Amino acid sequence: MPEPMTDAYRANARPYLYGDERERLLLALGSGQYGHGEITEQFERAVADHLGVPDLVAVSTGTDALQIALTAAGIGRGDEVVVPSMTFCSTIQAVIAAGARPRFAEVDPRTLCVTGETIMEAVTDQTRAVMPVLYGGRAVDLSSIHAELAEHGITVAEDAAQAFGSHEGNVPVGATGVLTCFSFGPIKSLTCGQGGAIVPRNEAEATAARQMRLVGMVESPAERARSTSYRVERVGIRAHMSQLNAAIGLAQLAHFEETRAVRKELWRSYAAALANVPGVELVNCDVERTVPSMCVVLVNERDRVYEALRAKGIGVGAHYPPNHRQPAFSDWFRPLPVTEDIGRRVLTLPFHQHMASGDARIVAEALEAAL
Ligand SMILES: Cc1ncc(COP(=O)(O)O)c(C=O)c1O
Repeated sequence: MPEPMTDAYRANARPYLYGDERERLLLALGSGQYGHGEITEQFERAVADHLGVPDLVAVSTGTDALQIALTAAGIGRGDEVVVPSMTFCSTIQAVIAAGARPRFAEVDPRTLCVTGETIMEAVTDQTRAVMPVLYGGRAVDLSSIHAELAEHGITVAEDAAQAFGSHEGNVPVGATGVLTCFSFGPIKSLTCGQGGAIVPRNEAEATAARQMRLVGMVESPAERARSTSYRVERVGIRAHMSQLNAAIGLAQLAHFEETRAVRKELWRSYAAALANVPGVELVNCDVERTVPSMCVVLVNERDRVYEALRAKGIGVGAHYPPNHRQPAFSDWFRPLPVTEDIGRRVLTLPFHQHMASGDARIVAEALEAAL
């Protein structure tokens, strides 16, 4: 059984275990095979079936999924990838690790997601891919610019690290036909402890991703165990998903409908509790179609409010400090006034499945008092 947590609002984010993760993990431990194996492949099939897609490639993290997906799609040295600055720094690091250059784009302040307009404003002659980030779990519909992007040979590769379980219209994120990357990290709606996955668009991408995650080798671990040799066909990294992580993910997936319901309910509780609080702009996550990964507001004097709430033991955060201002990415700086304003005002409220609607009310009241 999951352990009860008191004062759940003290944590900004936290994994939620249903209990049977332990049993599955013990079985995997007993198998003596901790690398990529049969349980990893079971996890791949189960997630692919859940999404209704023909194939899915499990990897060690969401960050690796992004790098591998770009490389598998043929994006590399000298190519430019349009990406929002308002994201976790992994998105940018993955673009650079793939050998490409980030070109920062603005977001819509109501959703903190890119739009067709903000993407096209950033696209140049050098752009070979765009990487929308599904901030907070919200799907990003770029269908209005798909034809234009395709005409210029520009790939759409989604950073859906936060969006497992969400829908774009009626279609699950991952099944919309674009190259999609998920994270199953510690605080994601579906956690493997650590993990990620790529939904490839075709067999060539799937093969490239499978080889790249296993340092470029063509043979699977099972095939290698029966052979005196192996063949390295491409440059790769060590990024397979361990059976131990896959076992946790399989247990979590069996409970995903509860996860979906609890997260939507908590977000709605926040929306109701914050509805009449002056000075709070709730970032719209399109809760009908989204499994929310965060509850995000914009407030003035964010740093003062953050300190006041922290002093009361409330686990607020600020996701994210804009990337175009980070020293490591200074070569690609361009002015982004909307993102900079969001970076000064963004506040993420405690959001995880140990919380109940009463916790959301406590946080909302404390936020109102702090303002
Ligand atoms: C938007 C975004 N992109 C990428 C990542 C990287 O995923 P991971 O932590 O599994 O490497 C995360 C999660 O941390 C994320 O939130």
